Amino acid sequence: MKGLILSGGLGTRLRPLTYTSAKQLVPVANRPILFYGIEAVVASGISEVGIIVGETKREIMEAVGDGHRWGARVTYIEQDAPLGLAHAVLIARDFLEDDPFVMYLGDNLVKDGIAPFVEAFRREHPPCQILLARVPNPRQFGVAELRDGRVVRLVEKPQHPPSDLALVGVYMFDASVHEAVRAIRPSARGELEITDAIQWLIDTGKVVRPTIIEGWWKDTGKLEDILEANRIILDTLQARTEGEVVASELHGKVVIEEAAKIIRSVIRGPAIIGRGALIEDSYIGPFTSIGDGVVIRESEVEHSIILEGASVTEIGGRIENSLIGKNVRVYRSGGKPRAYNLMLGDRSEIGLV
Ligand code: TTP
Repeated sequence: MKGLILSGGLGTRLRPLTYTSAKQLVPVANRPILFYGIEAVVASGISEVGIIVGETKREIMEAVGDGHRWGARVTYIEQDAPLGLAHAVLIARDFLEDDPFVMYLGDNLVKDGIAPFVEAFRREHPPCQILLARVPNPRQFGVAELRDGRVVRLVEKPQHPPSDLALVGVYMFDASVHEAVRAIRPSARGELEITDAIQWLIDTGKVVRPTIIEGWWKDTGKLEDILEANRIILDTLQARTEGEVVASELHGKVVIEEAAKIIRSVIRGPAIIGRGALIEDSYIGPFTSIGDGVVIRESEVEHSIILEGASVTEIGGRIENSLIGKNVRVYRSGGKPRAYNLMLGDRSEIGLV
């Protein structure tokens, strides 16, 4: 069995971060989201992994490499434009051959992995198996209608949802999907939709097996979803201190990486402080990931993700629910007149107190 991980796309909902980097490389607990997906696929016994890449190809390839770190062999498949999830299957034809495969959306996180579901697929080998999760707001998802233990209909963001079962970004197929992705036409938004390909399978009499997952999962396309993922994953970490802690208090699950320095500060976990970071005269609150080489001085940060190389110094209020990009500098400007001095990229957002 093979794995197909989708790491192309535009990531418009995460601009401005995605103007300069891939959304699948945004870190959750200081590790790129994509790595959790690769791990989940490999842990289900798959070592041949194809990764769909788009505009951010170079960055993804640099981060993932040839896959040997996970004991996998990675093949990169270039998608000229994000023409849809089914288009990704279409262009991966040579890599996939006629093997059954699991398709995993590279910005999705399934906390407990996917091994049992892949195992069930291997055992029963239906033409297609999809993962579903119960959600309170099915209107915002692709939704499945089930009858007699099979999927009979899939609808995208329905006005009148036939169930509360949302599609999770993990799908398993046998070779019959290749005919489906060739048969369908682009949707109104111009994409070849995987839901249309699966509906085509259903309509041509193929069994599409639903699996309902109970554990936590998230499609991390938006800021609040990334912060939630960060919260959930940080909570699973074991406390450890490899850096230096001077005249500071650490409470709860706190990870201090090598060469990090914590000076006259309070850190309340779950939190992670990256390699070489400096936290001085500051407070780091729960559910915060501080990236490598970040400097926090005379400031308070909680429930946030700060990417590598950024600095936050002497700010008055507390930073909360925030995602701060690489090498961003947030500081107090002391001069007169007292004014905000901003240099913000397109689509940046700041909330002032
Ligand atoms: P989406 O989140 O549906 O799309 P997107 O990444 O373009 O984001 P946005 O809606 O914010 O613009 O994509 C799900 C995953 O699949 C994500 O990891 C990107 C990837 N993908 C591809 O690799 N190729 C594609 O053609 C599409 C549509 C998505």
